[in-house]
Amino acid sequence: MRILLATEKPFAAEAVAGIKKIAVEGGHEVVMLEKYADKQQLLDAVKDVEAIIIRSDKITADVIAAAPKLKIVVRAGAGFDNVDLAAATEKGVVVMNTPGQNSNAVAELAIGMMVFMARTQFTPGTGTELKGKTLGIHAYGNVGRLVGLLGKGFGMNVLAFDPWVKDEVFAADGTEKAASIADLYARSNYLSLHIPATAETKGSIGYDLLTSMPKGATLVNTARKEVIDEAGLAKAMEERADLKYATDIAPENAAELAEKFGKRFFATAKKMGAETAEANVNAGLAAASQIADFFATGNVKFQVNK
Ligand code: 3PG
Repeated sequence: MRILLATEKPFAAEAVAGIKKIAVEGGHEVVMLEKYADKQQLLDAVKDVEAIIIRSDKITADVIAAAPKLKIVVRAGAGFDNVDLAAATEKGVVVMNTPGQNSNAVAELAIGMMVFMARTQFTPGTGTELKGKTLGIHAYGNVGRLVGLLGKGFGMNVLAFDPWVKDEVFAADGTEKAASIADLYARSNYLSLHIPATAETKGSIGYDLLTSMPKGATLVNTARKEVIDEAGLAKAMEERADLKYATDIAPENAAELAEKFGKRFFATAKKMGAETAEANVNAGLAAASQIADFFATGNVKFQVNK
């Protein structure tokens, strides 16, 4: 089979070599499309492949329509909001993710951003410490749990909200379960976002939640920009000169926020949560193995469009 590795943001060389090795051992061939600048290149590249490995690359209905031989798409990573699941399902294409494989990299970045914001973005000035502060975790999945663990190492009190997670999981970690989303935000000095972008969550974090946070609170977003109500966030930061926002996914109004709020706002130049050699290797190799296994045995364990 032909497996297309379509990564606008390329994987580390070590990960690419590992993906090729797994593919060749399974009798497959890897076709590369890295750092592509426009969608037409993707549309051309998918024409005669049976499988695609992607990162945040967008697999829309027209990409699926342009790939008549396509059987499987694996998102090397966690979030699959970049794949049109309905279009894939309609064409009988299996979509998978590789949950947990890049979580540690994202969790480390989230904590790093908290320190960065607490210490005046590493510029001269008096900062604060994470120790003793309450760390709120919105969604307690693979990344959220690791952020909580790291936060505990800093001496933070960890509080989390996730209606899908069993009480035993919170108890096992010694993490307090917030009563509601409102309760979580009202008590968190640092709020780390780990919710996916879904119809329900898009635009759900805005003025009311932000203005309910304690004095001097910081929101850290290593999840998705779509979950933020950007106008509501800007309004909250205007009214509350103590609020801070650090994000790994630059908002549409990044320039406005940077100008208005200076060191109270920070956005990475390009999403870098999963940009470590380790995360690339973990997620890339898992993607390649899942594809090889799918073709060899029909295993669909990580399918997300069932
Ligand atoms: C994920 O959902 O796994 C992360 O958002 C990583 O995205 P990336 O592969 O584009 O870095």
